[in-house]
Amino acid sequence: MREKLRIGLVGCGQFCRAFVPIFQCHPAVEFVGITDKFPERCREFDEKFHVDRIYDDFDHLVHSDELNSIAIFSQRDTHGWMAIEALKSGKHVYSAVPMALKVEEIQEIIRLAAETGLTYSMGETGIYRPASIFCRTRYAAGEMGDLVYAEAQYNHDMKGLYNVFKYTEGDKWKLMAGLPPMFYPTHSTSMVLSAARAHAVKTAAFGWTDNVDLDIFGEGMNYWDNPFSNTSMLLKLNNDATVRISENRRIAWGVPETYITSFNGTKASYECSLIQHSYISRPDREVFYEDVSDLLNPAELTAHRGEVDFMQSCVRGKWSGGYAPIQKTGRLPRELDHLATGHAGTHRFMVDDFCQAYMTGKQSPTNPWAAARYNLPGLIAHQSALNGGTLMDIPDPGDPPGEVLSEDREFNECDYH
Ligand SMILES: NC(=O)c1ccc[n+]([C@@H]2O[C@H](COP(=O)([O-])OP(=O)(O)OC[C@H]3O[C@@H](n4cnc5c(N)ncnc54)[C@H](O)[C@@H]3O)[C@@H](O)[C@H]2O)c1
Repeated sequence: MREKLRIGLVGCGQFCRAFVPIFQCHPAVEFVGITDKFPERCREFDEKFHVDRIYDDFDHLVHSDELNSIAIFSQRDTHGWMAIEALKSGKHVYSAVPMALKVEEIQEIIRLAAETGLTYSMGETGIYRPASIFCRTRYAAGEMGDLVYAEAQYNHDMKGLYNVFKYTEGDKWKLMAGLPPMFYPTHSTSMVLSAARAHAVKTAAFGWTDNVDLDIFGEGMNYWDNPFSNTSMLLKLNNDATVRISENRRIAWGVPETYITSFNGTKASYECSLIQHSYISRPDREVFYEDVSDLLNPAELTAHRGEVDFMQSCVRGKWSGGYAPIQKTGRLPRELDHLATGHAGTHRFMVDDFCQAYMTGKQSPTNPWAAARYNLPGLIAHQSALNGGTLMDIPDPGDPPGEVLSEDREFNECDYH
């Protein structure tokens, strides 16, 4: 068995808070350090979690000899250069989404991962969400035929996130909040592309120029001069299917925020409307309906069906954090059982797949090549949208070297004990 992970977490902000205990309790991890630009955030984390070390800054952490890995939880525009620095200093990398905001940074991460053999895993919730698991397993079993068309989206009105940005950015928060929606495409793309076992080769996209609040989107209003609050892209896949992905940041919507609307094959289709999940198959002339809602919705949500204001609670996300029966929690280390869940129960899967990849020497499901295939279409689509929807080629990094862990395995490949 390899030496245990000695990991340094960068960015003691709002998201990282949920991950410190997961890394601390994970049996593959024996040391957890932290750093943040705000020393008081490190102190607060230490009081709460009793970490093993606080590092002065990113440089000290990334070059520390007592660490063999880092986990990046800083803001979205930092992930690319931090992952590159970490790989260059011989550290395995877990990174929150997105992978990076520049094509060149993504290519450099892939080059370094290939050259060094170090583990890189992007913590992407999408592939562990029930609808993605469902479409992936049914499609892989061959019962859906060939994929024809699919739709997915991530609907998150930025108004609900203004305070999230103010927390770290202070009075410059608007500059960061106006990120091009397509620079954060991986929740949607990963759900569909992992299920399709395919990648996008071309895109054409259209943006919605925000004219509602005139606060964060528009020329000179954000770091990217991004005018769009909503962008939709059409993707042509290498298997000839067409996919529509929408990244909406000014939209009246609730929960689910990230979901597949439809995944249509020649023999069967999956469709979703809020908490209604339908599977329609037509293997021959007859059409069959299967209600798979109870398999895909969190068990806790199903238990409250029929209560007063049930749907109201659902769209407000009341029971959205827990596990659905289709999620194979049996393979997760029991040491994590007592911890809180989040984002449809996906947090533990993301951390565990990074640990499993490191321990086995196999590629994580969200290895650099896969992560790039989820991330690059959005970066190119934003350019297409800026050009009024021109058709553009998407660079493809190819398949990862070596064996890749399956997202849908029943059991872990190595016992940590
Ligand atoms: N569903 C998801 O997958 C999901 C959900 C939420 C957030 N995220 C991602 O997690 C990341 C963090 O989000 P958040 O809401 O916690 O942000 P946040 O602003 O609350 O936290 C980021 C922290 O990183 C620190 N930081 C930035 N640069 C640093 C540096 N050079 N050295 C040390 N510390 C540094 C900041 O000071 C801040 O405390 C974002 O990239 C976001 O995209 C993903």
